[in-house]
Amino acid sequence: MLNNFKIPKKTSFRLRSLEVFPNTILSPMDGVTDAPFRRLCRVLSGDRMGLLVSEFVPTDGDAVFCLDGHKQLRFFPEERPFGVQIFGRFPDKMAAAARKIAESLKPEFIEVNAGCPAPKVAGKGSGSGLLRDLPRLQEILHEVKGALDASCPDIPLTLKCRIGWDSDSINIMETLAIAEGEGVEMLTVHGRTRLQGYNGLADWDWIGKAAAAARIPVIGNGDVNSVEVARERIDNYGVSGVSIGRGAMHNPWIFGQIADAWEGKPAHEITAAEALDVFPLYYKFKIEDGSTDKGAEGRLKQLAARLCKGFCLDERRGEAGGADNESQDVAMQVRQALLSSACAAELLDRAQSLKEGLAKDLVFDPSRLVNLNGAKETELKFGDQFKGR
Ligand SMILES: Cc1cc2nc3c(=O)[nH]c(=O)nc-3n(C[C@H](O)[C@H](O)[C@H](O)COP(=O)(O)O)c2cc1C
Repeated sequence: MLNNFKIPKKTSFRLRSLEVFPNTILSPMDGVTDAPFRRLCRVLSGDRMGLLVSEFVPTDGDAVFCLDGHKQLRFFPEERPFGVQIFGRFPDKMAAAARKIAESLKPEFIEVNAGCPAPKVAGKGSGSGLLRDLPRLQEILHEVKGALDASCPDIPLTLKCRIGWDSDSINIMETLAIAEGEGVEMLTVHGRTRLQGYNGLADWDWIGKAAAAARIPVIGNGDVNSVEVARERIDNYGVSGVSIGRGAMHNPWIFGQIADAWEGKPAHEITAAEALDVFPLYYKFKIEDGSTDKGAEGRLKQLAARLCKGFCLDERRGEAGGADNESQDVAMQVRQALLSSACAAELLDRAQSLKEGLAKDLVFDPSRLVNLNGAKETELKFGDQFKGR
């Protein structure tokens, strides 16, 4: 695999004095990329992940922003370089939260979210709601930057946004200009509008236009699900790096695979047995993080639903390498066996026996997946519900 793989023009980027290699970010995903999931990706990637970011932290609710009670702020020292992402619509509250987080946790960067499409966030004017009110976004960036400069000037401010509210109001170039004017030092652009939610494909032409005009690193985001796609996006759209969200749920090894490819190393082929071994590891990380057994079970199933879609019969194993239908059938049975487990212990037992049974002729090849939304993961499928709001 990946013989003659072309190394992209850019394999790292700078965030102020920090050299980020590989040029990847694990995209923040609320309800997914908590410390145990990030830890899992880190271990599977041989600790080569570029940047990690917290799930987004709300700032509107508290009268005075208080670190306690925001579990999203928990991270391990070995996760550095680590950024904390905040969201809200009140510039003073955002600034106060940024200051407190910066002073107490000293993350490598603080990021403002201008991308969340959820009605309870965007509908109230924060997240991607800020894209309908750029003066407010500017004020937030100004205040947060001021708070950081006054308290922790060594911590850069970054922004993550979408390309606009809807296809009639794409304003990524204005957002970029505002961001640069306010001293933002890295912009991650998710190439969808708010109205799209997570449907359709990200528009990389807009990401490319922003990257071409920018003086700061622009990180492209949307639908990156393999080493090859990452390389193609970096080379063809001129981005400084890529941010990977759902692709990491399908393939938590992806950051290490990218690092291997960028370093010119041969690709390591993952067997289904190896892939099934992530479940006990993830469970351990969840429990160590204080999760209940039920909570851990939910996350194991969330991962199983995605990961098992990458299973297919090993084509090189003569008769075992059957037609695609047969391949899908076996992979589906493995997935079902895990998802129908009654509790975490049963899921872990099943994962163990599947390794010797059904899954023994499977390999893990998630690059065959094109639709990151998946067919049935309705809990993670957004978009339709926003239409018309
Ligand atoms: C379940 C879920 C939760 C998300 N939570 C956040 C979040 O907290 N902050 C954020 O900036 N983006 C969030 N996103 C958006 C992702 O970071 C990313 O921009 C989006 O999924 C597109 O990238 P992808 O195609 O690589 O998944 C979330 C996405 C999903 C699917």
